[in-house]
Amino acid sequence: MHGLAGGTGATTFAVNLAWELATISKKLPPRVCLLDFDFQFGSASTYLDLPRREAVFELLSDTSHMDGDSFSQALSTFNERLHVLTAPADMLPLDIVSSEDVLRLIEMARANFDFVVIDMPSTVVSWTETVLTHSHVYFALLELDMRSAQNALRMIRALKSEGLPAEKLRFVLNRAPRFTDLTGKSRVRRLAESLDISIEVQLPDGGKQVTQANDHGLPLAETAAKAPLRKEIQKLAKSLFDLNLAAETGRK
Ligand SMILES: Nc1ncnc2c1ncn2[C@@H]1O[C@H](COP(=O)(O)OP(=O)(O)OP(=O)(O)O)[C@@H](O)[C@H]1O
Ligand SMILES: [Mg+2]
Repeated sequence: MHGLAGGTGATTFAVNLAWELATISKKLPPRVCLLDFDFQFGSASTYLDLPRREAVFELLSDTSHMDGDSFSQALSTFNERLHVLTAPADMLPLDIVSSEDVLRLIEMARANFDFVVIDMPSTVVSWTETVLTHSHVYFALLELDMRSAQNALRMIRALKSEGLPAEKLRFVLNRAPRFTDLTGKSRVRRLAESLDISIEVQLPDGGKQVTQANDHGLPLAETAAKAPLRKEIQKLAKSLFDLNLAAETGRK
């Protein structure tokens, strides 16, 4: 998840999607890992009320000696289901890790989990490319405003000029207008047309409830299970889960 502008809801989306995936099936719940790569302001730990462990910094500062044990020691667990590599306790420069480090972390997570959800900083850094190249889906969050539109355009241009797979971006419109808001809907259409993108996911504004859930360190499923925002994220989790299942069955 990559917010194309600050505060577009990338972390809320990442945390809740990860939790929905982790709880999607009673019989065969997938193993889900959330990696908070926003080493400065990462708030996944806040939104899930998890401690920021010292082991995170140790892990990040030397990934070449990482093994399964040191990786799992750096993870915190939410409700015994969701495994989270929180941001470290102290603010770190985003270039504390290299592309190589990031690749090692992704590979380690991928070897141990069915789904790896990564919360990215809004700033594009040297290892953004690594995450983009190694992800199956790269969600880019935006809102219905000019700064999101312009940032989206810049992001697409930057990726294309570097020969990077801009087509991997899946645009998610947060705080999308309601179904009944016809002018809002036509603004969404115009936004998509002018950027020449398709907006595949639209998340409704959940009001104060969302920030309250985040402040309490609980996913929406635990505090506002019937909220339209939660339903939408749950629906997406289900489709990702089914897609993954179909791909695995195909492979067998
Ligand atoms: N759909 C929504 N409805 C209502 N409030 C929302 C919604 N999405 C996010 N918020 C609220 O907006 C604020 C910013 O959300 P969040 O931290 O997820 O954004 P972000 O893109 O990760 O921000 P940052 O740029 O700081 O990483 C939070 O207070 C959150 O509770
Ligand atoms: Mg964030």
